[in-house]
Amino acid sequence: MKNIQQADIADKNILVRVDFNVNLREGDVRQKYKMESAQETIQYLLNQGARTISLLSHLGRPEGKYSGNDSLAHIADDIRRILCVEVFFVGESVGDRVKNAIVHAEKGSIFLLENVRFHKEEEKNDDTFSQVLAEPFDIFVNDAFSVCHRAHSSTVGITKHIPSYAGLYLQKEIEVLSRICSGVESPSVAIVGGSKIETKLPLIQVFSKNFDVVLVGGRVANEALDNKVDLPVNVILPVDFEGDRFDIGEKTRENFIAEIQKAQTIVWNGPLGMFEDPRYSQGTFEIARAIGKSSAFSIIGGGESIEVLEDMSLLRTISFISTGGGAMLEYVTGNRMPGLEALEK
Ligand code: 3PG
Repeated sequence: MKNIQQADIADKNILVRVDFNVNLREGDVRQKYKMESAQETIQYLLNQGARTISLLSHLGRPEGKYSGNDSLAHIADDIRRILCVEVFFVGESVGDRVKNAIVHAEKGSIFLLENVRFHKEEEKNDDTFSQVLAEPFDIFVNDAFSVCHRAHSSTVGITKHIPSYAGLYLQKEIEVLSRICSGVESPSVAIVGGSKIETKLPLIQVFSKNFDVVLVGGRVANEALDNKVDLPVNVILPVDFEGDRFDIGEKTRENFIAEIQKAQTIVWNGPLGMFEDPRYSQGTFEIARAIGKSSAFSIIGGGESIEVLEDMSLLRTISFISTGGGAMLEYVTGNRMPGLEALEK
């Protein structure tokens, strides 16, 4: 891939694709780590003397039309606070408003553009739109691994129109995730939960090849038990449950925690029960605490597991957070990643 370290940044107007698709719940911003993940690339671009930096993201799925609830204006203050920089909000992602803001900007200015999914052409990877998106800029940087499984204008189309590079967090995600697909330090434990067997089964198969044990909980475990799915021998399923199989039971928690305590490498994707209901949250919370206490190299991916750790203030104990929920599954299971292919040399 072409990385930003290869680009001449000085005095250039740079467009950075970030993923600020955070959860907005009753005015509270969840998944703030997505904003934090952009910090290193922004700082790098400033240090290299970029003329301007414009941050481009989607928020939610507004289906190609303006929706006040999905405006990035709602999170501009959080971005300023988390990134510790002044950020000017521009109420558009393309066109004259963006061009004028950039032309009249002082050197080192940072802009937050409006939700790119307010334009229906974005998700169609429309070439004219991609060209208009690229127009005010000299360089495009993709730092949003979590949308690289989407072939959109802001991940693929734009790269045909201006020199394009991978940002620093995106580079790290690939480095760490490719490591978990090839070889990790033993004893190694993968934990897979969640509900969608069709997406989680391929993940279990990949992890079972590269990890010593794979602990499986959540609805995916129930379905595997009900359908007598033929799983690799190192996959450990629950032996007891809480409620009508809404959470893993005490003995399973003990078994799973014993494996976590031995581990040198841990990867976790997906909750182990209906953790939103306090009656069935114990399994997920105890596993989260055990991972938090462990000194293993720990990697976590998938929005729900990350939110659990965020709510328990345990996120800082994790070695690496993969911002990609769907993208992590696609990457690890070897599916195409159009946003990454577009950055290839
Ligand atoms: C995510 O939250 O996983 C990414 O932002 C991708 O969002 P999407 O599934 O709406 O494309």
